[in-house]
Parts: sequence; structure tokens; C-alpha cells
Amino acid sequence: MPRIAYVNGAYIPHRYASVHIEDRGYQFSDGAYEVVNTYRGRLIDELRHLQRLDRSLSELSIASPMAQQAMRLVMREVVRRNRMTTGLLYIQVTRGVAPRDHKFPRSIKPAMVMTARSIPEFPQEMVDDGVKILTIADIRWARCDIKSVALLPNILAKQAAAETGAYEAWLVDECDYVTEGSSSNAWIVTVDNILVTQPTGRRILAGITRQAIISLAGELGYTVEERPFTVTEAYQAKEAFMSNSSHFVTPVTQIDDAVIANGKPGNLTIELHQRYVRFMEESAPIDSLMG
Ligand code: PDD
Repeated sequence: MPRIAYVNGAYIPHRYASVHIEDRGYQFSDGAYEVVNTYRGRLIDELRHLQRLDRSLSELSIASPMAQQAMRLVMREVVRRNRMTTGLLYIQVTRGVAPRDHKFPRSIKPAMVMTARSIPEFPQEMVDDGVKILTIADIRWARCDIKSVALLPNILAKQAAAETGAYEAWLVDECDYVTEGSSSNAWIVTVDNILVTQPTGRRILAGITRQAIISLAGELGYTVEERPFTVTEAYQAKEAFMSNSSHFVTPVTQIDDAVIANGKPGNLTIELHQRYVRFMEESAPIDSLMG
């Protein structure tokens, strides 16, 4: 069955889908995006992702390409046409097409692309074994709260991690604080079982998974401290993990050369992972989401 992409109003076979060479997303990374996890026929935290997309666009003065309800219809149609039950839905909105010029015309029509990619269920080995992290300087801009498609520092960090055998890069600011991962939020658990993660603000993306974890941890009776933590604190943590829409709660068992605790995923991390999976299972199936 061919994959189908949505491109500016049309559903097109993925292999023929393309955008204009003067799309400002292509020329200037002038756009924003979202990745929505689709878990067994459920769009996880759909509305929060759409709210964040709206916020990113409004911070960039890019017009919304369509009303939220219409966007939800397109999302369902992309999922349906690709017969995706478990996978990732990618939504990208750019400022649109215009002759190359740094300044932009105010009346430009935004461009929107949506793709769906089925993926196998999340590998249990990653939960059982945990992953390695490489720390690296955070060289990004001062508006990391915007989910911009400009990801050069992120991709370079992730590539550097991969080349040293690590799974993810944790970005470190000038004060030695871990801000977040190249495509995830970063967490540690202290000896007192307190969860610690960088506060939201302009230094990090306010992860939708991060927010869900804060709520679930509260329900489970754990304390979450939203404060910066240093690389040294992370090395000495009782547990560590990363979170995002495609990895849920993934244990971290090594950071640089430091093995975290006994090198096995921590109990609290595993509990949160399981609780998050249950949260996904309890989410409404796609068809009943229209309201
Ligand atoms: N990335 N921080 C950064 C820099 C991210 O790129 C992401 C997500 C997150 C976690 O956000 P959420 O929990 O809403 O997925 C944090 C997506 C998955 C990506 O770029 O593929």
C-alpha cells in the first residue's frame, strides 16, 4: 500500500510529494512542526500538540493554515489513508512561498505538510536495558520554546551522540546545566526519589510528554522539582530518563562515562514508563475524538 502525504490541500503519494523550491521552510527554516504519537489507533495528547503548534506559529507571526477542527480532520484522513495504527504523525507548517528575501510579506499563505509513518511497537529492550547519553554544548538560539524546524544544532548533537555509540545527546548550557535532549526532555531522580527536570521557559521545549509525566508522577505520589540540574548531579543521580512523544519514558543508564547507579533502569523510571503506557491505552480511540 503506498504511503500518502498531505501537501497544501492535496493527498499525494509520498514518493511524488514535494514543495516549491522557494518555500521559506526550505530556504530559511521559517516554520514550525509537531510530532504526534499514534498509539494503537489513538492520537496521544492531540489537542495539546495542536495548541503548541498554534503557539509556535503565533510566536513566529505565521498564520495558522486552517482552523483546529479542520486540521483534526486532515490528521484523521492522513492516518486513515496510510492505515496507520501505531506510528508518528508529522505536521509541518511553514510561512509559505515567496521570492527569497529575509523579510517576509505579511499576506503570505502558510504551507502545510502532513505525513504518517507506521513504526513497530516501542522496543521493550530499550526499557529493559536503558540508553546511553552523550553530553554536549547547547549551542541553540534563545527561543527553544518554539518548536521550529530549524534544528541544525539538534541534528549535529544527535549525530555526535550516535557516532560515539550513545542514543541521545543532552545539551549543556554555559553554567553546566543540562537543558534538554536533542529531541527529548531530560530527567533525573535524586536519592530521595524526587524527579528533577529543567523548568519550562525559553531554554527548552515544553514537552507534551513531560507535562503528562508531571501529572502522572503527582498521581503516583512523587514530587517533581522543575529546576535546572548539572551534569555532575546527573552523573550521581539515582535514576535518569528521557521523554518525548516517540520514546515515552526511556531509562538512561549511562551518561558519558558515568554509569548511572548500578547500570540498570531505575524502579521509578520503569513505574513511570508503565504508567505512561497505561495513560496511552486509556486515551480515546481516534474516531471518538471529534467533538
Ligand atoms: N521532539 N525537546 C526537544 C528539543 C524536542 O525536539 C522534543 C520532541 C521534546 C519532547 O517533546 P514532546 O514530549 O512534546 O514530544 C523536547 C520530537 C519527538 C521530534 O523532533 O521528533
